[in-house]
Amino acid sequence: MLSVENLSVSVEGRQILHDLNLHVMTGETVALFGPNGSGKTSLLKAIIGVPSYSIESGKIIFKGNDLTRLSMHERAVLGIGMSFQRPPAIRGVKLRDLLVTCVKKRGGVDPGDINDMIMRLGLSDLAERDINKGFSGGEIKRSELIQLQAQGPDLLLLDEPDSGVDLISIELVGSVINELLQKDRKKDRREKAGLIISHAGHILDYVNADRAYVMLNGTLQCSGNPRELLDDIIEKGYEGCTVCKG
Ligand SMILES: Nc1ncnc2c1ncn2[C@@H]1O[C@H](COP(=O)(O)OP(=O)(O)OP(=O)(O)O)[C@@H](O)[C@H]1O
Ligand SMILES: [Mg+2]
Repeated sequence: MLSVENLSVSVEGRQILHDLNLHVMTGETVALFGPNGSGKTSLLKAIIGVPSYSIESGKIIFKGNDLTRLSMHERAVLGIGMSFQRPPAIRGVKLRDLLVTCVKKRGGVDPGDINDMIMRLGLSDLAERDINKGFSGGEIKRSELIQLQAQGPDLLLLDEPDSGVDLISIELVGSVINELLQKDRKKDRREKAGLIISHAGHILDYVNADRAYVMLNGTLQCSGNPRELLDDIIEKGYEGCTVCKG
């Protein structure tokens, strides 16, 4: 589904990602770990096409389409969706109105489903407010997730969906992510794939990841089983991962 090939990305004239390669197959869930400032969010923003993240060299291929020159909007229409680590508040746009617009665009989805989605994620009051304006950290994560539910993308880019989420809500967030990734189907029957950034891996207690990568200084240094990698990081630190070069 996704092929990132020799990707180098700059922001504000500074190169942040260096010659990065990553492949995600349909049906897979891939986790991304790495220290603060290593470039994890920048990778996801480069994939979804946030304008200030300019591709210096390399390619991003999604379902056979070269995304390199496509706008963020065109990438979203092709089926890429992102839940942002720190999304902006959007004054004057109510969360419910955005959800209705997204669901209508998709067609064939009953707008009544929106109410069920809102109730399930405990967003009844928030749905009538401007998107993310004054939302708490955990509320922002649920707001981002419900927007993905309304969009129904094929590739889900989830930037720290677990940070700031309380112990009870994280189970709910996990079950919604599992549904979005069609985890109830066998891997070869799924049409979705996910890339999840997590620091402590809490979300991986609820969402099974097939493999994980460690990003250091703007490139992927190491890959392996998510749980084993997390244990290694706790034991040896991030730099310890460079030794294995898996
Ligand atoms: N718009 C920008 N302007 C200037 N520097 C930027 C911009 N976006 C990212 N950077 C820099 O790029 C580096 C990587 O940032 P990024 O947000 O990708 O890190 P991260 O791995 O997601 O970190 P964290 O775990 O803290 O979320 C950082 O040094 C950051 O300051
Ligand atoms: Mg980040």
